[in-house]
Amino acid sequence: NAKVHHHEFVQETPVKRLCNTHNIITVNGQFPGPTLEVREGDTLVVNVVNRAQYNVTIHWHGIRQLRTGWADGPEFVTQCPIKPGGSYKYRFTIEGQEGTLWWHAHSSWLRATVYGALIIRPRENKSYPFEKPSREVPVILGLHCATPWEWWNANPIDVIREAQRTGGAPNVSDAFTINGQPGDFFNCSQKETTAIPVKAGETALLRFINAALNHELFVSIAQHKMTVVATDASYTKPFTTSVLMLGPGQTTDVLVTMDQAPTRYYIAARAYVSGQNVGFDNTTTTAVIEYDCGCASDFGPKIQPAFPTLPAFNDTAAATAFAAGIKSPDADGLKVHKDADEHLFFTVGLGVFNCKPGQLCAGPNNNSRFAASINNHSFVFPKTDSLLHAHYYKIPGVFTTDFPAYPPVQFDYTAQNVSQALWQPVPGTKLYPLRYGSVVQLVLQDTSILTPENHPMHLHGYDFFILAQGFGNFDPKKDVEKFNYVDPPQRNTIGVPVNGWAVIQFVADNPGVWLLHCHLDVHITWGLAMAFVVEDGYGELQSLEPPPVDLPMC
Ligand code: C2O
Repeated sequence: NAKVHHHEFVQETPVKRLCNTHNIITVNGQFPGPTLEVREGDTLVVNVVNRAQYNVTIHWHGIRQLRTGWADGPEFVTQCPIKPGGSYKYRFTIEGQEGTLWWHAHSSWLRATVYGALIIRPRENKSYPFEKPSREVPVILGLHCATPWEWWNANPIDVIREAQRTGGAPNVSDAFTINGQPGDFFNCSQKETTAIPVKAGETALLRFINAALNHELFVSIAQHKMTVVATDASYTKPFTTSVLMLGPGQTTDVLVTMDQAPTRYYIAARAYVSGQNVGFDNTTTTAVIEYDCGCASDFGPKIQPAFPTLPAFNDTAAATAFAAGIKSPDADGLKVHKDADEHLFFTVGLGVFNCKPGQLCAGPNNNSRFAASINNHSFVFPKTDSLLHAHYYKIPGVFTTDFPAYPPVQFDYTAQNVSQALWQPVPGTKLYPLRYGSVVQLVLQDTSILTPENHPMHLHGYDFFILAQGFGNFDPKKDVEKFNYVDPPQRNTIGVPVNGWAVIQFVADNPGVWLLHCHLDVHITWGLAMAFVVEDGYGELQSLEPPPVDLPMC
């Protein structure tokens, strides 16, 4: 008895934050956008009607889109943008995934304001693999586009266009929000601070989503422990912690028992900054947990909430400890493979393009333009067609399939000594072809060029196992011994440790074109992306469906 859910999505709304009202692009006038709630097995049909003056597409982050790659959403990858006045019906079935995912615009930087939660509950006759929570609350961490105001007054698309024009870093000073609100420490925001009402003694399921553009975030709740039960819509072995770390794109479901004195407590989030000398926002966004005790009936004369302890902004040990705590549940049928058909090694990191005469070059030293790459390839999105459409109809000239399995030079991190051959990437639109059903093992190695950084790498169309992660150079001999084939966590986005590496594994059982990219939006703009093209297998169930009739064309 799977259901078909229909939604209409639209755009452009005045929204008041931080004492000012501005027009931002929204969905149905809501910011954050509507929460979509489904059960595993259901079909979602979302008609996106573009009533704004910008191109838009919507991506269903983490949804596998088995054989329905046309509904995945990244612009110029699986579709051309929906133009102003146009529409497109995304239709897909949610198979084999439960937990919290989210949706967001996947066009320019529109996802700054165009996002919302996507909650997948078990089928009607099934229950959660943990105690039934008495309440479920999506908690979306975003950015508020202000302090010191330039962001809110401009709009994200203009900010990124300006960065692309000059080759410099975007003029973004993002501070953060929880469910669209900056919280108590910001002007004109106190009245609207997100409040989560709870009852003493109950256990609530909080579904955290990091929808921020360019920041990893630590999250804590004053005086309450959190038990992690799922990440990226894959269940985990429950583990208890007082701090979460979420990279952009990641989700974490936690159970919280309201076992403290009945009053008000802050949930607080603040950036984790793995890089050195990286400008960042050190503001703290807050929401409030309010026990139903008659003590917090309004925001007038307040009981000052208790504030949690957050790790320091550069506490890599805390981020690492959190990542290490996540494990898949003990279960039969965890399909981890000891042998892989494809062994790939991808370097991920920043770099520069040399300045050409007549170009604006506001990158490092003011004589270059920022670039980013995987295996020294800086990804260029096509303009005349989508990759998937060109693949399906065998249209030549849109991409090539010679993305390299290894970097052009042997990678060696040993203290800032990375080969210059990885500093100046080559722009191009190269895909890596995968045979249907092949087992892919991929080492992601941070290059630490310009700055060591934790890159949240997101793979479309797949969940992957994280076999191992570590610091320094990946060592193919020693590090394979650390591979976890027993209970590796399953995710769609992994923070590749700063100055380090991670090994992921997936089976290429979803035909189509699938983007792999850094979920720091500024990095995807600079080219930190590539795509896999997965061939059809045999028969209908192993083949990409034909495109919908209303697929937007370029
Ligand atoms: Cu959540 Cu390609 O993105």
